[in-house]
Amino acid sequence: MIPFLPLNRINSAFEPNFSEAILRVAKSGWYLRGGETEKFEHEFAAFCGMKYCTGVASGLDALTLIFNAYKILGKLKDGDHIIVPANTYIASIIAISKNNLVPVLVEPNKDTFNINADKLSNYITPKTKAILSVNLYGRQAEIAKENNMLLIEDCAQSAGIRPIGDAAAFSFYPSKNLGALGDGGAVVSNDGKLNNVVRMLGNYGSKEKYVNDYLGCNSRLDEIQATVLRVKLPRLNADNKKRYEIAMRYIAEIKNPDIILPQKEGNSVWHLFVIRCKNRDAMQKRLSENGIETIIHYPIPPHLQKAYKGSNLLYNKLPITEMLANEVLSLPIHQAMTEEEIWAIIKNVSK
Ligand SMILES: Cc1ncc(COP(=O)(O)O)c(C=O)c1O
Repeated sequence: MIPFLPLNRINSAFEPNFSEAILRVAKSGWYLRGGETEKFEHEFAAFCGMKYCTGVASGLDALTLIFNAYKILGKLKDGDHIIVPANTYIASIIAISKNNLVPVLVEPNKDTFNINADKLSNYITPKTKAILSVNLYGRQAEIAKENNMLLIEDCAQSAGIRPIGDAAAFSFYPSKNLGALGDGGAVVSNDGKLNNVVRMLGNYGSKEKYVNDYLGCNSRLDEIQATVLRVKLPRLNADNKKRYEIAMRYIAEIKNPDIILPQKEGNSVWHLFVIRCKNRDAMQKRLSENGIETIIHYPIPPHLQKAYKGSNLLYNKLPITEMLANEVLSLPIHQAMTEEEIWAIIKNVSK
């Protein structure tokens, strides 16, 4: 069996440093907002080429707190329209809805899976106040900042890429390119004011103990996750390079007229290697029978989810998004793959 993502194999490559770091934190008696988190925040900001980083509890929280903070800072208000790709993971859109903002769903470019910068002007109205660009499958969306509009970047799937937005949200969910041993996330920006508000919001709206300025929540990266991420961060670029090499081999060596391979151009950390196939379900079944585990990212787009029935999503028809949901299939890709696994995937997908 070739597993989609063997996290035990991936994480055991960081031993003994992992166990040592976790034990050190366990013995320290300090588990939240301590030295490990602070050091990680500095290291991750520098890694991203940005000034500020605040660790939070998840990628969804990172996005939600960015929108919340922009509202507090007066840059967004209830009912403002936020452009977001329709073919994203639902978390991107939940973060907008939960802040009483209106998600305006836009069709992606079917070749990059990302926001189509050329077509954006079709969606922009005086109510549009921000764009949430999603680096889906690890590929950075090619998008320029519009005048008078915030550019927020969902980097949940693109750790290793330098953000270009006014603020960027990262997820350290275990399967991500920089994965923790549980949930985690971060907000990264060059905006000191935004960073202060996000940091306070994640700590009950408080900077000073028992003094609360905002109705915040509890969303903090904990010391154990921070220490784990500090062990993994120095190897992220090398791990992403391995993903890139595997992606280039798949693109060069998979030969099958019935599938569409992803584009090799562009800036990507290859979080997922997503092919398209009209007979996707049959293909997935055949691969599974041949011992290859694949996953569909994502089978039901957010606008067709029960959660969004009768809600305030704005969109016209979304034929590209719906077509992608029926055709996409993610093949295994990660830094711990063996040559045998890579070859078996090339051979079977070509068949
Ligand atoms: C594009 C995207 N945005 C946001 C999230 C939310 O991240 P988390 O699972 O850490 O809340 C995820 C991942 O799950 C994601 O893939």
